[in-house]
Amino acid sequence: MTYRFPTQSNLYRGESEPVKRPKEFACFSYDEQHQYHIGDRSMKWYYTPALGADLSQGYEDFIKHDDSIDEHLDSLLTTIVHHEKETKKPIDANIVTWRGMMTKIMAVPFDNRDGFEMNATLYRGAIFIEENNEYKKASKEAQQNWRSAIPQDVMQYWGYKFETLSTIPRPWGETSRDYIENRDSHVTNNKEQYCSVVRTGIGKSIICIGGEVDAIWDSKPNPTYVELKTSANPTSGRDEENFHRKLMKWWIQSFLLGVPKIIVGFRSPDGILTKVEEIKTMTIPHMVKSMGKAHWDGDVCINFAGAFLEWLRQTITTEGVWRIRSAPKSNFIEVFQVEQVGHGNIITDEFMNWRIQLSLADATTSVNAERTPGVLEGG
Ligand code: A3P
Ligand code: MG
Repeated sequence: MTYRFPTQSNLYRGESEPVKRPKEFACFSYDEQHQYHIGDRSMKWYYTPALGADLSQGYEDFIKHDDSIDEHLDSLLTTIVHHEKETKKPIDANIVTWRGMMTKIMAVPFDNRDGFEMNATLYRGAIFIEENNEYKKASKEAQQNWRSAIPQDVMQYWGYKFETLSTIPRPWGETSRDYIENRDSHVTNNKEQYCSVVRTGIGKSIICIGGEVDAIWDSKPNPTYVELKTSANPTSGRDEENFHRKLMKWWIQSFLLGVPKIIVGFRSPDGILTKVEEIKTMTIPHMVKSMGKAHWDGDVCINFAGAFLEWLRQTITTEGVWRIRSAPKSNFIEVFQVEQVGHGNIITDEFMNWRIQLSLADATTSVNAERTPGVLEGG
């Protein structure tokens, strides 16, 4: 049985309900070897990069994370366990996933060019969604075959290089001038990441999402998160259309984690950093509308995601593994069961063992609570 949910944008027009502000409740880091640590040790501070930098510099020394390995939801689940050990109760989310999955879902009414595949499972009242790694690998390989003047790998490096050029590992006051001035010669390493885990709501669903945060903007007492992006200098009308599409992805990504500011590094066609601009995340949907020829609408993205998640919760009601799929250029999302029992590799043993332990502890507490009057009677 395959269930289908329509994705045409015209079905979801209208002002969206006010959305709850995402609230961070935990964070974790991957160190330079991509080893997991709870907490913010890999967090970076934003500090304006020098213009004129060559984003290709150091490409040969790039320490690149092998993203063909399937990491499932492991780090996110470990972080949730850590949090629940402190609160001694399970989180209340209906949906648990990476920010990247929610971004694909929210964007689909306006961007179904590439399609996507995810795996989902229902565990103790919540739906856990991971990327289907096989599909991701296959689409990456297809992308590698696109021909372009500058190799795809180099262009991808530019984005990470921009992060190296724009961040420092400690606040400005604690960082030497020497460090800041020599950022162009620092090795770029994308194994290192800082990730925020938030609780947020879309429509009637409470969702827990984890995602990478590039840097913080040091304005005490409330430092804010910033997202770093690169983009070619728009020159023609066609570029502008692409830029609008990029803005949609940037807005969704940042909106989901509650990142209020995006720093854009504009570059020449051959990767020289020419300009840096700040964009307030909140202003993007309006900005795109006011520029005319709008290719997307933020309200539609939110309305669609709210309706889809609600439908998904009514559809995935038994255990097993489910596939969530949107084929390239289709105008629906398909959901069907691929395994009848268990949870595939979506839920870790660590997470299950913890939840069992938690419910046993809970049962013991309630039994004791029930017994208390009896004890009093006896005494
Ligand atoms: P840009 O976003 O500046 O192009 P993110 O901004 O999401 O943290 O990603 C950092 C960089 O990773 C991107 O820089 C880009 O270089 C690379 N990247 C992210 N997602 C990608 C994708 N789907 N395909 C290719 N490169 C990607
Ligand atoms: Mg970024």
